[in-house]
Formats: sequence, C-alpha cells, structure tokens
Amino acid sequence: VDNRPIGVFDSGLGGLSIVSELRKLLPHEDIVYFGDTGRVPYGTRSRETIIKYAKQDIAFLRSKNVKAIIAACGTVSTNLPEDYPSGLDIPFCDILRPAVEAACRSSVSGKIGVIATTASVKSGAYGRTIRAVRPDAVVVENACPLFVPLVENGYIERDNKVTKLVAQGYLSPFRKETVDVLILGCTHFPIISGIIADMLQDQILLIDPGTEVAKKARSLLQEHNLFSCRESEGHTDFYVSDNPSSFSQIASIFLGTEVTEDVVLVDVDSL
Ligand code: DGL
Repeated sequence: VDNRPIGVFDSGLGGLSIVSELRKLLPHEDIVYFGDTGRVPYGTRSRETIIKYAKQDIAFLRSKNVKAIIAACGTVSTNLPEDYPSGLDIPFCDILRPAVEAACRSSVSGKIGVIATTASVKSGAYGRTIRAVRPDAVVVENACPLFVPLVENGYIERDNKVTKLVAQGYLSPFRKETVDVLILGCTHFPIISGIIADMLQDQILLIDPGTEVAKKARSLLQEHNLFSCRESEGHTDFYVSDNPSSFSQIASIFLGTEVTEDVVLVDVDSL
C-alpha cells in the first residue's frame, strides 16, 4: 500500500487524455501532472533536446515524491533510449508499447496506421515496436504536427473548420484498404478523435493510448503493491511551465470537469 501520487508528464495538455483514463480506472489515486507548456511542442525538436527535457520533467516529478511515473507523451515515448528507465527506482511506463500491443491485437489485416509528431515518426520507434510484436505487419505512418498547436489552442470542437481542413490532408493516406486500425500516437490526438473518426467515416478502428496506458499503470501498481488505501476520490495537482490560467481553461474542457485547483507555475530552468 502506498498513498503517494502517480506522476504524469507531457509537453503540454495532451497528457490530460491519459489523466482522464487514469481517473476512471484508478479513482482513488492522487496524481501530480506536469505540462511543459513553456516548451511545447516537443515533436519538432531534436532527439537530444527531447531526452534532456524528459529527464528534467522526470526530475521535477521525483521532487514531488511520486510512487510511479507515466510519460504521457508520444514524442518522449518514442525518443527515450530503449533501456530507459534503467536507474530509476520507481515503476515507469510510457505510451509506446501499450498502444502498439492494443493495435496489433485489434488489427485483422495486419495493416496498421500511425499518426504522431514529426519526431516520433522520424524515430522509427512505432514501426520497430509494431514489427517486434507482429512481424507480418505493414505500417503506414504520417506525421501530423499541426494537430498539436490546434489542440493547445482549443481548436477541438467536432465541427471546427480549421482542424477539419488540416485533418483532411493528414489523414488522406488512411483508407480502409490501406489500414484497419490507426494508432493515435500522440497524446494530443485523442482530444480530437471525433474529428479524426468523422474524416475516416468510422471505417478504421482508432487506438487511444490512454485506455491502454491506464491499464498498464494499474498492473504496475498491482505488481509493486503500490495501490493507495484511500476510499475517497483521489485529487490531481497541476503544474505547468507557462501560462497557468489558459491551462486551467482548456484543461477543464479536456477533463470534462472544472479545474478549480490552483495550477502552479514551475521555473523550468531550475529543473
Ligand atoms: N503530446 C505529445 C506527444 O504525445 C507531444 C506534442 C508535442 O509536444 O509536439 O507526442
């Protein structure tokens, strides 16, 4: 039994798609969320910079005495060294493997699509991991970097003309002949899954890493005997590296509940 919080981080708001699934599956757990809103996006940066930022984000969460860490960011998940987290003495999970395993299980044709950030696609990690799980798979990937600022700026309503137009271009390689499942390989994307599903006319199954990562987190807590014994609902503390007030507004939309807690500003250079 361990009543310490679970630490979750992302470059910005996207990781809230994971928080929302964690809250459903592990309602008694406290969560510390860090969104690196001062340095978003990560997905256009070099691998070295992404790893440096991720290590700082992890160091910040460690300073909050968390019992486990979730990298709720596709870009970090695909760019961290494969042996990570050797050296970390608490359970760690990212979104890559849980999302890939779900896609490989669900695909009938073995033709698997991935949309993610430029850095994730460039890393080749989705393709490598998919083929490790399912050697017969054919992988079709497309980078969709503009989805990230659209989501960060709240262009998320299902009939948003700008996001729909961008989605039309990005999703053109995916038709039911080319893939039967599509991994939303960046945690910002489930937030606009309605627009993506409309564009694909519901013919392709969307894999949301949130559900899978929450299940993985639950099994890690179980394995290490780290469930909280709290009977009341857990709470979430939010930390960001820039613009706390705009974070609360958009976070409330994402989480479907008002973020009334203070969102605390962190000095990213001190991490
Ligand atoms: N939410 C992030 C991801 O899953 C990153 C978006 C970005 O910072 O570019 O990749």
